[in-house]
This record gives sequence, C-alpha cells and structure tokens, in this order.
Amino acid sequence: MHSFGYRANALLTFAVTILAILCAFASLSDNLNVPNPSAHVQVLSINWFQKQPNGNDEVSLTLNVSADLQSMFTWNTKQVFVFLAAEYETPQNSLNQVSLWDGIIPSKEHAKFWTHTANKYRFIDQGSNLRGKEFNLTLHWHVMPKTGKMFADKIVMTGYRLPDEYR
Ligand SMILES: *[C@@H]1O[C@H](CO)[C@@H](O)[C@H](O)[C@H]1NC(C)=O
Ligand SMILES: *[C@@H]1O[C@H](CO)[C@@H](O)[C@H](O)[C@H]1NC(C)=O
Repeated sequence: MHSFGYRANALLTFAVTILAILCAFASLSDNLNVPNPSAHVQVLSINWFQKQPNGNDEVSLTLNVSADLQSMFTWNTKQVFVFLAAEYETPQNSLNQVSLWDGIIPSKEHAKFWTHTANKYRFIDQGSNLRGKEFNLTLHWHVMPKTGKMFADKIVMTGYRLPDEYR
C-alpha cells in the first residue's frame, strides 16, 4: 500500500540522491580544473639602497608585476590572495623570504593584470647581505574556495640581482 507519506519519502530520497550526484560531479569538475597561471615581474628601478644605522640593509624597488591568474577561477572560487616575495640565501639562513607586495583578486575579470608599484612592504635584510645578492621573486597564491579546501601554490621567477654598491 503506497501511502502519501511513503511517496513523499521516496521523492525526497530521489531528490537527495540527485543532489549528492550533482555535488560530487561539481567537486570533481573543480578538482579536474588544472590552472595554468603565468606571472612576470620586472625590476624597473632601484630607488635607493642603504645600510641602516642598525647595520641592516634596506632596498627600495619599483616593480612591474604582471600576471594572468584567470585559469584559477572556477564556479567554486571565492577569491585569490596573492603575494610576491623576494627569496634569497644568506650564511645564516638557507631561505630568507621578504614579502614585497600582495593583493586580493576578487574575480576572474580582475585576474589578468599588471601593476607598476614600489614595494608595498619594506625589503630589509637581517644583516648586511644584500649587496650583489642574487634573489628570486616568487608569486605565491592561496585560492579560497566557496566550499572545500584552500589551495596554495607559487611561481618562482629566478635571475634577479641587487647592485654591488649602496646608492
Ligand atoms: C608592465 O608589464 C606589462 C606586461 O608585460 C606591459 O604591458 C606594461 O607596459 C609594463 N608596464 C611598465 C610601466 O613597464
Ligand atoms: C631560486 O629558485 C631556484 C629554483 O627553485 C632555486 O634552485 C634557487 O636556489 C633559488 N635561488 C635563490 C637565491 O634562492
């Protein structure tokens, strides 16, 4: 005997099953999206380069940061946080990481950009190791999804070098 309650229950079960299948498919399609972002950073100028009275080196740079992060955006992407770090080795530390610039990208429309900027955060070494120093500029990002796990990755750009003398 099929009562009203039985049919309502069957309908609900069917609806929940369909929903579960759709969610699984959506999450799978999000995981299948392999982003292929690109980034390029030019050091346009060294504004100044000094040793501070406390003995730490500090440099001011003007950068042109350009990136195309559009492929990171799927239906499930809330926003992307990016930061650009100078990374270099010193006798004391195998990795020194100094954040120079960051930004929040709210949508795919804003994910292809270039920006001409002086470093937003100070580039200071814990010592006087920066003269003639080779360094990498690494663009790190954190993809914040609407549902599911946060995802982080980076692009390393190599071959930068600071001047041999203070200026
Ligand atoms: C910055 O880089 C972008 C892309 O490479 C380029 O189109 C733009 O002209 C550059 N801007 C400056 C000020 O160099
Ligand atoms: C720059 O990155 C390359 C590749 O990841 C790495 O081999 C190299 O040690 C890095 N250089 C510095 C100065 O950190």
